[in-house]
Amino acid sequence: MKRRLLTVMLGLAMMFTLAACDGAGNADPPEKQGTKTDTSETGGSNARNDGRSDVLVVVFSATGTTKRVAEKIAVQTGAGLKEIIPAAPYSSADLNYSDSGSRTSREQNDATARPAIAENISIEGYKIVYLGYPIWWGQAPRILSTFVESHDFSGVTVIPFCTSGSSDIGQSDDALAAQAGSGNWVQGKRFSGSVTESELKKWIDDTKPTETEGADMEKTLRLVINDTEVAVEWEKNESVDALTELVSAKDLTIQMSMYGGFEQVGSLGRSLPRNDVQTTTSAGDIMLYSGDKIVVFYGSNSWAYTRLGRITDQSAADMTRLLNNGNVTLKITYGG
Ligand SMILES: Cc1cc2nc3c(=O)[nH]c(=O)nc-3n(C[C@H](O)[C@H](O)[C@H](O)COP(=O)(O)O)c2cc1C
Repeated sequence: MKRRLLTVMLGLAMMFTLAACDGAGNADPPEKQGTKTDTSETGGSNARNDGRSDVLVVVFSATGTTKRVAEKIAVQTGAGLKEIIPAAPYSSADLNYSDSGSRTSREQNDATARPAIAENISIEGYKIVYLGYPIWWGQAPRILSTFVESHDFSGVTVIPFCTSGSSDIGQSDDALAAQAGSGNWVQGKRFSGSVTESELKKWIDDTKPTETEGADMEKTLRLVINDTEVAVEWEKNESVDALTELVSAKDLTIQMSMYGGFEQVGSLGRSLPRNDVQTTTSAGDIMLYSGDKIVVFYGSNSWAYTRLGRITDQSAADMTRLLNNGNVTLKITYGG
């Protein structure tokens, strides 16, 4: 097993040594890779540079190649950039992949190695995180494992990218996703150090999460009665799913009619899936009536409805004030 690993490593070594001259003819010899990661060189890149405050680029780069790509991604996406700085910087000797006893060789041979990070990086409040690293022996450097295992990526779309002499991203992105155990991880991408702006732009456009992925997790249906936005606890059912789909395509404005001294009713303009149940309503209830009408109650009625939700921040008296005063306009939007 060890012997096989050694053979693979030697093969890889030959491969990326030969390929260390990238397309632009820039030699990238191991000796040069010894440049230490210099925190001051970051030039404050661990500060946010928000054009889009919910997008962040996080990068680990031992010799600056991945960091240069990361900076271009940050500029193109308007994101902030944060750098994973090792507590113990990597020296030239540490990065010497020709030495099977070097620090990187030992770390990459040890799946449990977790090199410490100098400064904690917060991903709080970010919805999209680009995560960049160099390929070391066909894998992500172990410090990336330290990083992903110490963060909760719930609700975050993680977009991995790497640079290398020649190796592809391989399984490195999947391995990090498994170690993270949370987040919406998309297929990662390998770039050469000489990647062009237009190649990056195309990739950024292609990988950008759509409105219905990742970033929409905080979004919800919002309800405005005339000029008053009300808080709603929406049901989790197929009728509300269909309503969400309808509204996410286009805001809904519904002209309602006062009816019966207890409700306002208006047409949705199309039928939603229904699962009617005999119900006695109370003030604040939002119901689907006969599949294609929405009803908001300020009083009580007994009928077979499908429940859509319930207004939670208005008392019965508030609901009467809002609805028992002539026909109202209901606006339903989808947003954060
Ligand atoms: C320890 C070590 C192992 C490496 N292993 C590989 C490899 O398996 N495949 C490859 O194509 N390049 C390999 N490289 C080359 C780097 O991936 C490449 O130079 C990368 O762009 C460096 O990024 P950085 O400057 O951001 O650290 C290795 C470099 C080092 C230092």
